[in-house]
Amino acid sequence: MILVKFGGSVITNKGKECAFRSKTTKRLIKELCNYYDELTYRSEHESENTPRSNNQNGFKLILVHGAGSFGHILAKKFELHQGYNAKKEGQIIGLSKVHRDVRDLDLRIMNMLLSFRMPVISIPPMTVLRNKNNNFKFMDPDIFEKALDMHCLPMTFGDVVPDEKLKFSICSGDTLIQQLTKVFKPSRVIFVTDVDGLFTSNPHLKETDAKLISNLTEGSFNSAITNQNINPDVTGGIYQKSKIAIELAKQGIVSYIINGNVPGRFGSALRGHDVVGTVAK
Ligand code: IPE
Repeated sequence: MILVKFGGSVITNKGKECAFRSKTTKRLIKELCNYYDELTYRSEHESENTPRSNNQNGFKLILVHGAGSFGHILAKKFELHQGYNAKKEGQIIGLSKVHRDVRDLDLRIMNMLLSFRMPVISIPPMTVLRNKNNNFKFMDPDIFEKALDMHCLPMTFGDVVPDEKLKFSICSGDTLIQQLTKVFKPSRVIFVTDVDGLFTSNPHLKETDAKLISNLTEGSFNSAITNQNINPDVTGGIYQKSKIAIELAKQGIVSYIINGNVPGRFGSALRGHDVVGTVAK
């Protein structure tokens, strides 16, 4: 099993509200479908005409995606990650809008997957997951298992979720990856982002001597400058992903943080090839 997260930074323009990067997302989906075809020995002609299937030849995948500018901008504006605040005007409408927007993004990705004849079941965290104090509390994995039984690709995403203490808060795609890992014990996790990986300092700055950390360990992580995000992000960005990757490595799960803007890198990581990026193992 492989778990993949399409980061919001690669499938959306994080600086502009609800800006979907359809071309990039389509290419990533194509790279995914090509990999499936290779596993199932399908010819190019067959690939065009016959439906695909997840959970075939012993291979399974779960896809998680981030919210990007469909989530973070309004979530920050309405402080949704801090939970219910009676003094925050318009907060509940804001909550509903964010939930709608992340579902809108999800539906666009669903449509794309279907256009490649990949059967997909979408699982909104709002319905299967609970937080407590903006931390993960519980998730019912049953529907993920059922979707795999149906040979469908289970897909979930960063969302607003009920919170036992704060009424509501945010669950990120990275947290979903962490929790799904516990249930499904994948061999590999791939974080597809808009940067080559974790750097020793902020690679977005004009004058920078930032170096890519290819092998992520606790030591290399601690020496990296931690706040490398330039756009609104209520869930922790590359820093959080790296932390999760280190945790997963301790459980024997290999994690890749790769740049999805570079054609072919995602496909290579799916195949377990050496690829430019940050790898934790
Ligand atoms: C954020 O999910 C969810 C909301 C803000 C509603 P993620 O944290 O997984 O999104 P990205 O990948 O950083 O955009």
